[in-house]
Amino acid sequence: MPKQNINIILLCAGKSSRMGLNVPKVILKINGKSILSRTLETIQKVNPQKIIIVVGYKKEMVINEAMKLGYKNLHFVTQNNQNGTGHAVKIASKKISTNSTSIVLNGDTPFISHEIINNSLKTFIRNSADLLLATSSLDDPTDYGRIIRQRNKIIKIIEEKNCSKEEKKINEINCGLYIFKSKNLITKIKTLKKNIKKEYYLTDMVEIYSNDRKKIISYNVIDKARFLNINNTEELYKAHEIDRKYFYYECLKKDITLTDPSTIHISPSVKLSKNIKVGSNVIIEGQSSIESNVEIVGNVYIKDSVIKSNSIIKPFVNIINSKIGTNSQIGPFSNLRPSTVLKSNTKIGNFVEIKKSTIGDNSKVPHLSYIGDTEMGSNVNVGAGSITCNYDGFEKHKTVIKDNVFLGSDTKLVAPIIIGKESTTGAGTVLSKDLPDGSLGITRVKEKHLPNWKRKPKKK
Ligand code: UD1
Ligand code: CA
Repeated sequence: MPKQNINIILLCAGKSSRMGLNVPKVILKINGKSILSRTLETIQKVNPQKIIIVVGYKKEMVINEAMKLGYKNLHFVTQNNQNGTGHAVKIASKKISTNSTSIVLNGDTPFISHEIINNSLKTFIRNSADLLLATSSLDDPTDYGRIIRQRNKIIKIIEEKNCSKEEKKINEINCGLYIFKSKNLITKIKTLKKNIKKEYYLTDMVEIYSNDRKKIISYNVIDKARFLNINNTEELYKAHEIDRKYFYYECLKKDITLTDPSTIHISPSVKLSKNIKVGSNVIIEGQSSIESNVEIVGNVYIKDSVIKSNSIIKPFVNIINSKIGTNSQIGPFSNLRPSTVLKSNTKIGNFVEIKKSTIGDNSKVPHLSYIGDTEMGSNVNVGAGSITCNYDGFEKHKTVIKDNVFLGSDTKLVAPIIIGKESTTGAGTVLSKDLPDGSLGITRVKEKHLPNWKRKPKKK
């Protein structure tokens, strides 16, 4: 059940001019996931009745990105001219439910956590405050709005560009997260005036509240990465590093060992279970999921695939849009192309390519094979160098290999073909007709030995 009394206003209308990229900064990606979807996922955890997103600059791009998550509680308001954060909130205030608490959050703060928001909210309620600001103390407060206190009470916020030399030395800064009683906010935002820069600053609400003798309190955020706001490309780059750091911490909590984190790229879309080992040079992306007790040794690329528990992926393996069953062994040097399904206890070895095929329980394709458009039963052994010849130059054809088949080394199966259960093929066999159950299929020229035969001498 949503908390009926919480409305969250997310400010995403800005021109992002310091970014210089001609796109709204909130749709930029950090390790494959946009700033907007990160903040939206976080604020959704607070369980608000409404999320009011202020859009403006290239608003269709922002709306499309937000809608991807499929949340039902999103409301959009348009700020046609970006006249400042205060102006953005003024527009949003028309959608706020009067008897609620409003949380305002800058949209360019991707690592804000739901713990910070929830703790701020608790502090706001516990103190019966009228306004709460998330603040922090920074050794280098440059670019942030400074918190001005008088006898320890917050009286205003001054933006960097309007600070005097003395004010610039203040270390306490505004993190960009505000909590208001909605009723007050709706009335007071109307009284906000343009500043000398002809903009409405949300931060100027602090002075209005202070003049009204309203209770203004702060919530102290310790980890400065949590309120990093992305204004330029350098900060975007920094955000990638921060994301990797948080990902590493998450992995530690789940008993996931990343041997060499700087060489591992695992997209936020990937689901990782517990107790997994990941070696160097591993990329996992898309809708992939890795179950518990899996080991990925190193130099592996996995996209849109599921690796079930207790499997091992050895070096130099490529797995795309495939499913690997439990207790399986893949690699080294295997290429699993789209629509490969390996059941449990399978073994795919070196220089093996599999495409659009199912490999049954306990079956093995250990060396130098191509298996395409194939349905393979269980307990099948594929000898080294065996190939399904699935393409006649015009069309692809299917191969069926039933349970308990043994293919001798270098067997070629010319599809369409069915190899009956319990059957065997001799080494070097080329079959183009269905092999009945329990048979031996063998195609070989009779072996000839010519005694005392010498190769012609080489011409000098
Ligand atoms: C703002 C604060 C500053 C604080 C910092 C923390 C103000 C005036 N200053 O500065 O005190 O330390 O955040 O991150 O609020 N936006 C709109 N409409 C507008 C302008 C901005 O929706 O007309 C949105 C932007 O898209 C952005 C957010 O508001 O997501 C913040 O705007 P930004 O320009 O980044 O503010 P800062 O200069 O970082
Ligand atoms: Ca900002």
